[in-house]
Amino acid sequence: MVKINTCVFISGKGSNLRRLILNSNKYNFPIKIKLVVCSNKKAEGLKLAKKWSIPCLILNNKQSFSENKVLIKLKFHKIDLILLAGYMKILSKRFIRSFGKSIINIHPSLLPKFKGLNTFERVLKKKEKKTGCTVHFVNEKLDAGKIILRKFFFIEKEDNVSSLKKKTQNLEYNAFSEAIIRVVK
Ligand code: GRF
Repeated sequence: MVKINTCVFISGKGSNLRRLILNSNKYNFPIKIKLVVCSNKKAEGLKLAKKWSIPCLILNNKQSFSENKVLIKLKFHKIDLILLAGYMKILSKRFIRSFGKSIINIHPSLLPKFKGLNTFERVLKKKEKKTGCTVHFVNEKLDAGKIILRKFFFIEKEDNVSSLKKKTQNLEYNAFSEAIIRVVK
C-alpha cells in the first residue's frame, strides 16, 4: 500500500502520537510518520519519536523563524499531511497557506462548542449532558475548520476535570485514526 508521508506536531505527553505510530506501523493503515515537530524540548512525546527512530524537529520560541525551518523540513521529507496531536501553538495563516495541503487537528470537545483551552472546566460549568472530541481540518480560524468526525459520551454526576480528560482521551485515540482513514481514501 502507498502510504501518505505524514508529520505529527506535538507539545506534550504524546499519547495520541503513540497510537498514531502504532497504527501507522500496520500494513493497511494509510500513513507513514516521517517527522515529528515539537514545540517543547521537555515534551514526553519526544521519547516516543526517539524509540521509533522518527526524525524530530524541536522548535524554539521565535515563531516566524521556526515556521520557515519547519516548511523546509516538510519539503525535505515530502510531507503531504500534518496531524496536530496536542500541539499547543497556533499556526500562522502564512504557514497554513505555504504548506497548502491538509492539516488535521484533534480537539477535546464537541466542536463548535468550547473552542480553545480549558474545555473540561467549561463543559462542567455549563452543565453539559455530553462531551467528547472532534477531529477537524485546520483553517485560518481557531478550531473552526471542517469537521471530519466527532465522538461523544454522556457526563456522569460524579465526573470532574480529570475524569472527563481521561474519558475524552480514550475516545480520541480511535477517533483520530478513524478520521485519517476517512480522509485518505
Ligand atoms: C489531547 O487531549 C488533544 O485533544 C489536545 O491535546 C491533548 C494531547 O494529549 N489537543 P497527548 O499529548 O496526545 O497525550
